[in-house]
Amino acid sequence: MMLRGLEATARTLVANGKGILAADETIGTITRRFERLKIESNAESRRTYRELLFTAPEASSFISGAILHDETIRQLGSDGTRLPDLLLDRGIIPGIKVDLGVKRLANTEGEMVAEGLDGLADRLNEYRSFGAQFAKWRAVIRIDERLPTRKCIVANAHALARYAAICQEGGFVPIVEPDVLMDGPHTLDRCAEITGQTLHSVFDELSRQDVSLEGMLLKPNMVVAGTACPTQASITEVAAATLRCLQRHVPAAVPGIVFLSGGQSDLKATAHLNSINLMDGPKPWKLSFSFGRALQDRALATWRGNKAHWIDAQRIFIHRARNNAAATLGKYTPSFENEIRQPSDTFVSTDEDD
Ligand code: 13P
Repeated sequence: MMLRGLEATARTLVANGKGILAADETIGTITRRFERLKIESNAESRRTYRELLFTAPEASSFISGAILHDETIRQLGSDGTRLPDLLLDRGIIPGIKVDLGVKRLANTEGEMVAEGLDGLADRLNEYRSFGAQFAKWRAVIRIDERLPTRKCIVANAHALARYAAICQEGGFVPIVEPDVLMDGPHTLDRCAEITGQTLHSVFDELSRQDVSLEGMLLKPNMVVAGTACPTQASITEVAAATLRCLQRHVPAAVPGIVFLSGGQSDLKATAHLNSINLMDGPKPWKLSFSFGRALQDRALATWRGNKAHWIDAQRIFIHRARNNAAATLGKYTPSFENEIRQPSDTFVSTDEDD
């Protein structure tokens, strides 16, 4: 019964033409993004900004779920309604980030492992009382000449699988997020190799922990060349490499793959998603988005903490959500970008999330 509920929630999150808003930046990360735009970061400004996103008109036409941070799930909107209830009232499923960030992995040269398993079942019980129905855990894998080590991949895959098992036992759909970072000069092929090894290890560990694949979603990076690689791949090269990697490593029982944007420009993330959905070949899962920066950056740069820009910022956010929703169906074209006046600069934050 529980499993059937998980499967239904997972499928709702990847319903046709919809994707997920990742709005679960830690206080540190959102503060860095606010400060770059000279927005003061405090509990009230963060609350206001999240309310702007959650109440954007028609959001639920394109957004199935939103991932919240622990601070946000406890906050009230301006009318006194809890923020997760504002989402539920609009037909958007609230989710919660439950990893507690990455810490240095012992016996490595600065590799990281996500922590937060201790007490997770109890924390989920509390989040359930706020209406959350799914969760997210992000593991980080860094590429350089000698990295990642096998140790780092296995430690992160194991933690992801234990998190997913605890979530499912508690009635939450786990979003399993192994994020192979774009930073560095590595090639597209090297990203494909490491992403493949990582996904292989993740599904091995998920199987070992008896995680129901039907009741989870995968949130991977796309396969791209590193940001400092002199040879950047074309949109179709990224799409082909990404789909090939997923076909080789992700079982068909997983209902959906919801990509992170990872520091790609918002327009590229949309174009890549569209191209992946247009590729020939088997695609047994829904291929959608769970973007943070690629959905929010322009809206945040429009709002800049100013009440007078609230409606424009909501419009910009919905425009990105609509374009990404179209990309999940392979129906996006770059001309859609001219439908709305955009902020003059193509502001994209490239800082790493945590
Ligand atoms: P980005 O799309 O900005 O990478 O964020 C997604 C996310 O949830 C990171 O954990």
